Amino acid sequence: MECVVQGIIETQHVEALEILLQGICGVPRERLRLHEICLKSGPNLGAVASEVRIMCDLEQTEPSWTVKHIGGAMRGSGAEQLSVLVRTMVESKVSKNVLRLFYALGYKLDHELLRVGFSFRFHRGTHITVTVSSVNKMLKLHSTDEAVPVTPGIQLVEVTAPATSENYSEVASAVSTFCEYLAPLLHLSKPGISTGVVPTAAAAAASLLSDGAGTTM
Ligand SMILES: *[C@@H]1O[C@H](CO)[C@@H](O)[C@H](O)[C@H]1NC(C)=O
Repeated sequence: MECVVQGIIETQHVEALEILLQGICGVPRERLRLHEICLKSGPNLGAVASEVRIMCDLEQTEPSWTVKHIGGAMRGSGAEQLSVLVRTMVESKVSKNVLRLFYALGYKLDHELLRVGFSFRFHRGTHITVTVSSVNKMLKLHSTDEAVPVTPGIQLVEVTAPATSENYSEVASAVSTFCEYLAPLLHLSKPGISTGVVPTAAAAAASLLSDGAGTTM
């Protein structure tokens, strides 16, 4: 399982967000250049539609492939009270012929994206990964060199943390606590609940940039 929240930030404030994250996490950022291919199952695979994402990390010298299946969100009043989404997730490293395998199984290309940005991985109450990226679409099939932004001037911020059915509430509260540090710059909420940019972002960004980099919190 994983806990997840998302938000958006204007590209002009991303530098300030990076300074803030660097200060909180104390680890260097990792560059992100991820080709994401979303596949949906064909009708021959049973009644339940299935969706998988095949991702290729283009930052590595030797591109490495991962397949990810995002399952349903946890339901019930307990889950609704949490400010983060808890969902099942299966992720696995795969070899580069994975796309051919899924096509052979009857999956069809739904869409593909290129995410460009950076991520931070660290431990703060629990293992947390923050990714900040611009989402691009390809003008031609698989042509990652000719990608254009889907939402120019806006970047997506995603915070994820691995969890189990035993520890998800602890993980959710660690993620919520972490999100409060970012609140002056952006609002993070469950995926699908769009909250827009926060009005304090410009002032918070200006103050972060003038304080200088790397203030440890
Ligand atoms: C919860 O479990 C996951 C998966 O084992 C682990 O990565 C994470 O650190 C745990 N978090 C807490 C707060 O126990």
